[in-house]
Amino acid sequence: MEVLGVDIGGSGIKGAPVDVATGTLVKPRHRIRTPKPATPGMVADVVAELTAHFSWRGPIGCAFPAVVKGGRALTAANVDKAWIGCDVAALFSKRTSMPVTVLNDADAAGVAEMRFGAGHNETGVVFMLTLGTGIGSALFYRGQLLPNTELGHLEIRKKEAERRASDRVRKKKDLDWPAWAARVTEFLNRLEALFWPDLFIIGGGVIKKHEKFIPLLDTRTRVVPARLLNDAGIVGAALAAADWDSLRLDTKGRQ
Ligand code: BGC
Repeated sequence: MEVLGVDIGGSGIKGAPVDVATGTLVKPRHRIRTPKPATPGMVADVVAELTAHFSWRGPIGCAFPAVVKGGRALTAANVDKAWIGCDVAALFSKRTSMPVTVLNDADAAGVAEMRFGAGHNETGVVFMLTLGTGIGSALFYRGQLLPNTELGHLEIRKKEAERRASDRVRKKKDLDWPAWAARVTEFLNRLEALFWPDLFIIGGGVIKKHEKFIPLLDTRTRVVPARLLNDAGIVGAALAAADWDSLRLDTKGRQ
């Protein structure tokens, strides 16, 4: 079965049809710059453009950078405030005339990594963390997702973690790798003290350069790069749309 996976990010909106049995992209992914302002209407237009690009007719899974319950966005840390309360699944479904499933972007990336990537066969406490415009988190125990953990907003030195250690901050402040890795380490150490995880999987755009910073991280827990690299969100969104029930979540994110 194929599903169109779409990953909505702060700088780009990426999509590709995904073979959900293998977790692979069936066609090269297509990226469209996130519109400014990234209002619901403008982003829905981009999702429709992606759908048209692939001449897609069928289910769509969408990874969205906010708390998502029942297809509805409940927060808007790095997106336009107009998203709060918006039924994202219904909006995209109406705009594309296709069935759409929506979940948090880090949760989507985690679902993909647990099924096909660095978390495969990991049964303990696993964190997927995406370091991008913000910091996204997904928490798994025995492969089961605890949805909508928002640990990028944990306070460190009186600032939200994502305002100290996201990839956007690295670029904006022109931090070198050791300086940025020290900030990421501080965040990971805090998570270790609170959750005692068995594994950290790190993803987001910066993961292409994992050899520059993962060896510099100082944690007691294993840290590995996302194996699906920056495609994890696309693949996880497609998996969720194909088989929402297997995630064993209570709330439906489908429209
Ligand atoms: C949002 C999360 C999202 C993360 C990564 C955070 O600012 O609150 O919902 O997963 O950014 O995009």
